[in-house]
Amino acid sequence: METISNTIKVEKVKTSKIDKVDFNNLAFGKVLTDHMMVCDFKNGAWETPKIVPYQPITLDPSAKIFHYGQSVFEGMKAYKDADKNVWLFRPLENQKRINISSKRLAIPEIPEEHFMEGLKALLKVDHEWIPTTEGSSLYIRPFVFASGNGFHASPADEYKFIIACAPSGSYFAGKVKVLIEEKYSRSANGGVGYAKAGGNYAGQFYPTQLAVEKGYNQVVWTDDNTHEYIEEAGAMNIFIRINDTLITSPTSDRILDGITRKSLLEIAKDENIAVAVRKITVKEVVEASKNGSLKEMFGAGTAAVISPISTFGHQGQDYDLPELENSYASILKKRITDIQYNKAEDKFGWRY
Ligand code: COI
Repeated sequence: METISNTIKVEKVKTSKIDKVDFNNLAFGKVLTDHMMVCDFKNGAWETPKIVPYQPITLDPSAKIFHYGQSVFEGMKAYKDADKNVWLFRPLENQKRINISSKRLAIPEIPEEHFMEGLKALLKVDHEWIPTTEGSSLYIRPFVFASGNGFHASPADEYKFIIACAPSGSYFAGKVKVLIEEKYSRSANGGVGYAKAGGNYAGQFYPTQLAVEKGYNQVVWTDDNTHEYIEEAGAMNIFIRINDTLITSPTSDRILDGITRKSLLEIAKDENIAVAVRKITVKEVVEASKNGSLKEMFGAGTAAVISPISTFGHQGQDYDLPELENSYASILKKRITDIQYNKAEDKFGWRY
């Protein structure tokens, strides 16, 4: 039977650049592998994906991506275990989510087979690029954008779905200081906050630059309406531990349904950690810090994995988090990375 997987054409590079890479000093997402997957949407249908050498792409200057930002993406990772087996973590969740995002941006949905078979074909040719150094993995970036042209402000008639990969180390270098943002907003009800739309991230750059100038790494967004409630940090969902309860905001129109976020909620329950998915006010977090009941804050995401927050800033004041032994962050990080790197049993069936 003819399936997508046996029709995917693979054009390999003549010379690999892998020897030039220092796998012991990997930044995040800076070095790209030898190949990429490209799949075009033309004449109303997604064509068969192909694997080609990683290379620049040529676009018409009136391509709608440049003018109207019609683009969505995903973040995934491939891990290599001690026996050199390659693993993905819940990849079908990414496949579903890219289509949830696409739908919101009026981009045609990608069939599961194109996504999964294209990804597997790419990992087959670039498997040597999956690092085995501690804390490293192959960051995978599937993205779709409007390549069709014209200045009319309406959805394009052509799209490109590309998967590119970068062997990567940690997203954050060192301690993570966040600033609770009360002026700018990331998203609003009825908006695109729940989608992984490129523009959601571009919109964060300016407020984040202002925070970086004050010595913070990231902004923690509050709701656009009252700025009273903690939402997410843009590159990661936020978890807050008050006394022994781990709290995270419910997903909504405004908050990304993080795959790491939902996996951690399940692992935490399995660890008998009290979990509360509820709205949490900035006031509550500040008061908890003042009375000593705020034990931990951490970000969670594919790129960030679990990134403990050392300090949060609010209205000109910094609040430091205590350094705990056996923190929830360290317990959960070990559980999830042991599953991802095939170091422990996967009772949830997430490894792929
Ligand atoms: C991820 O965690 O993979 C993301 O897409 C966040 C991105 C801003 C690095």
